[in-house]
Amino acid sequence: MNNLSTWKVSIFGLGYVGLSHAVAYALKNIRVVGFDVDGEKIELVRKGVSPIKEPDAVKHLGSLVKDGKIRVTENYRDAVLSTDISFVCVNTPSLQDGSADLSQVRSAISMIGEVLRDKEGFHLVVVNSTVPPSTTENVVKPLLEDVSGKKIGEDVGLCFMPEFLREGSAVQDILSPWRIVIGEVDKKSGDALHQFLLDVYRGKLPPLIRTSSVNAELIKYASNAFLAMRVSFINTIARLCELLPGANVDVVAHGMGLDPRIGTRYLKAGPGFGGICLPKDLRALIRTSEKFGYDPVLLKAIYKVNEEQMRHVVELVENVSGNLRNKDVAVLGLAFKAGIDDVRESPAIKIVNYLVGRGARVKVYDPLAIENAKNVLGNKVMYASSMYECIRDCDAVIVVTDWKEFKRLTPEDLRRFMRKTVLIDTRRVFIDRIHEFDEKVMYIAVGISLLP
Ligand code: UDX
Repeated sequence: MNNLSTWKVSIFGLGYVGLSHAVAYALKNIRVVGFDVDGEKIELVRKGVSPIKEPDAVKHLGSLVKDGKIRVTENYRDAVLSTDISFVCVNTPSLQDGSADLSQVRSAISMIGEVLRDKEGFHLVVVNSTVPPSTTENVVKPLLEDVSGKKIGEDVGLCFMPEFLREGSAVQDILSPWRIVIGEVDKKSGDALHQFLLDVYRGKLPPLIRTSSVNAELIKYASNAFLAMRVSFINTIARLCELLPGANVDVVAHGMGLDPRIGTRYLKAGPGFGGICLPKDLRALIRTSEKFGYDPVLLKAIYKVNEEQMRHVVELVENVSGNLRNKDVAVLGLAFKAGIDDVRESPAIKIVNYLVGRGARVKVYDPLAIENAKNVLGNKVMYASSMYECIRDCDAVIVVTDWKEFKRLTPEDLRRFMRKTVLIDTRRVFIDRIHEFDEKVMYIAVGISLLP
């Protein structure tokens, strides 16, 4: 662990992507300087406290900061001048029309470019933020050349390198990636990033491709759209299964997945996909297609199916409970997937809003995400501190996230605590125990035939 690499890198933006990269690179003995415009975040990291609940960041940040492998600064000049490569890891949230907001990327590039004006020697800039196809070439390159007064490919390098990290395993996804994509604006820049990666992975690189920045940008968006398509596809089949006597979406998905051309992943039917990437990147790809004169009907359908799926969950409750006005509904699980505390674009939040909109009184519980949910849902709902408290005196319970602890609920618990024992299981957490439910428990699972 003491063989510190000669590389020094700065990371602009200490959010999910930036902090996970900082930790992963520091674990690979690269010296990292972190910069963020948010002073509170800087202070936390300086103390070795992770602002994100990513398990490996929480675990390693303290010692990496203590050992000096990660240092943070409020001074972007310092960040650029003391390093060889700057990674741009700022957010590109959705604008009102669905397109990506590039203001944070522009701002980071302007800061870096301004410092590069006075910096001697070659400095490489790598955009990790997800930016729409053609942005690196048409927006970032001219801005960086303009602000720095230097030419890309001579004194300044520029690449786009997409990240494919998943929340909950982000650091691991960087340490052992399935693939690396270098989107190079010119060969010298690509060579520099390639050399850095060879050193990071000590020559044992995962499959790596070098291509133009536009192809790399497309690879990122197309990958996320494809994953989203698989989820919307299986949710479409799930809807059909609910109407066909005896049908079970998990059996269908399993059978499909045995074909290696299809594979098993991302075929789990549920309440719809959420999170910070899949919905946002799909919207940005739709807008980019339209901007370049193409109407992407398939991409729009993926999005529409997802929106309908969340509404469908509420319809499932209405089908058994009738009008939801003044009914008490429990929602178990608020994070957009199990194991994390992130509720951004979570199907659970949309489902809660639909329920509230229909006049239901909603009580919610999540093992990790309650605090984040409070910021979004405010006093619209009641917050329970356990799943038992959540279902108490309710007319229906909806399981939206497949947290392991929910499996502990028994039919006996439902009968004891609930006013009416209606259980809507969007992730089929209880499907293996269906035989334990008697006719007093109305059990409905997404993707399972509603008919006998
Ligand atoms: C995703 C991509 O996996 C990652 O490569 C990219 O860089 C960022 O976006 P993440 O947002 O962390 O990662 O979540 P992911 O694990 O992909 O799940 C996204 C959503 O799809 C969740 O709401 C999840 O519950 C849902 N999902 C996923 C399903 O409903 N069914 C599945 O089979 C898989």
